[in-house]
Amino acid sequence: MDDDFERFLAAHPGYAQTSAIDDLRADDFRRLDDRGQVYLDYTGSGLYAESQVREHAALLSTQVLGNPHSANPPSALATELAERARHRVLKFFNASPDEYYVIFTANASQALKLVAESYPFEQGGRFLLTFDNHNSVNGIREFARARGASVTYVPVLPPDMRLDEATLAGHITEPVGGHANLFAYPAQSNFSGVQHALTWIARAQAAGWDVLLDAAAFVPTNRLDLSLWHPDFVVLSFYKMFGYPTGVGALLARPTPLGKLRRPWFAGGTITVASVGADRYYMAAGAPAFEDGTVNFLNLPALTLGFDLLDRVGIDRIHERVGALTGWLIESLVALKHSSGRPLVRVYGPVTRESRGGTVSLNFHDSQGRFIDHQLIERGAGERGISIRGGCFCNPGAGEIALGLSSGELSQCFARAHDRMTYNEFRRCIDNKSSGAVRVSLGLASNFADVRAFVDFARTFLT
Ligand SMILES: Cc1ncc(COP(=O)(O)O)c(C=O)c1O
Repeated sequence: MDDDFERFLAAHPGYAQTSAIDDLRADDFRRLDDRGQVYLDYTGSGLYAESQVREHAALLSTQVLGNPHSANPPSALATELAERARHRVLKFFNASPDEYYVIFTANASQALKLVAESYPFEQGGRFLLTFDNHNSVNGIREFARARGASVTYVPVLPPDMRLDEATLAGHITEPVGGHANLFAYPAQSNFSGVQHALTWIARAQAAGWDVLLDAAAFVPTNRLDLSLWHPDFVVLSFYKMFGYPTGVGALLARPTPLGKLRRPWFAGGTITVASVGADRYYMAAGAPAFEDGTVNFLNLPALTLGFDLLDRVGIDRIHERVGALTGWLIESLVALKHSSGRPLVRVYGPVTRESRGGTVSLNFHDSQGRFIDHQLIERGAGERGISIRGGCFCNPGAGEIALGLSSGELSQCFARAHDRMTYNEFRRCIDNKSSGAVRVSLGLASNFADVRAFVDFARTFLT
């Protein structure tokens, strides 16, 4: 054992209890080390264990599965496996089947769009959301505005990037009137890794809001217990939790708020009866009304295999391990100083493990404190086999606050171009400021060697 690792274990003793993940990595994630890959983009996508793919392939190659809308035996089996997956989702999140429907979608974004296009926004109604949100949540504002609802953003505050709680409390307690009002926020930021308090769910509901919780970046490494927390809508993508399959996400929704949604159309599978001659249709009740066409019935059984993996490893063990590695990663990075005494990196978000997940965004600075282009860092890491992400990670609000881009200067840039603007044009417009950051994110199969590889890479920029 080397000195770094020993010091790490002494500072984060919980890590030692997670050694089962080292065995899993050596066996079921072997391809990472075989290929010399340091994967640090788990917030982009989780990684699958090789056994998930083998077991799924074995199922597909030995069973006959057909469209669940038919009634023949292959169809009945597909339906049974899909229902098994649905129950497994509820079980994993400790959600009562009486309290939550599981609606399968293509991804978290499609789950968000189902709410966005169907929510009864209207004049006098409100859509409240945090600056710190993925673009697929930001996009809901277009539906809200088109129907006359007001849109209000609550800022996060640098350097910790936590919610401006006083402002949020003020907005939540303003009278909501007789309208439908929606509040949307992420349980964990895909930019800063900040975990926004789940206590806002009940506070907002008590004041008359429906609450949409974006759990996409939270659930891969944290327990979300839906018997303790009761958001009206929860969205997620399964590939972020266990890597495979892609193309499946879910909207978990409580029956009463789901009953408020008005779908803008009907499709195969969403109706009980539709007629061309009579020009009428009746929507199905519950989840089927929101699953347009044929669900991804070949991939749904793979969800059960993914949950088997998470249950075998244990979400709490993953959480502990990722927390320890994140703590060491941040401590090590912020300790790096140029010979001028200036820090090498600036982390956007909390620099302790407290109420944060394993997503760390930062920029590199030279010995004079100037930004080093994040694209250069991303490319350099890639050349060493280290996979990180650069840019603003589809979370422009958090990025703008972190980087100190004011609404005024951003509006000026957007005023210059009418229909289209490329990312490079945008970068030129904000000239000497950085338009993004790099993001290092940890997950299920991360180990100490991964985070140390990134810290060693960071050291190469010291002057
Ligand atoms: C917090 C958060 N919400 C939503 C999404 C959208 O997920 P998807 O691209 O799978 O629809 C992401 C993806 O990165 C995310 O991190």
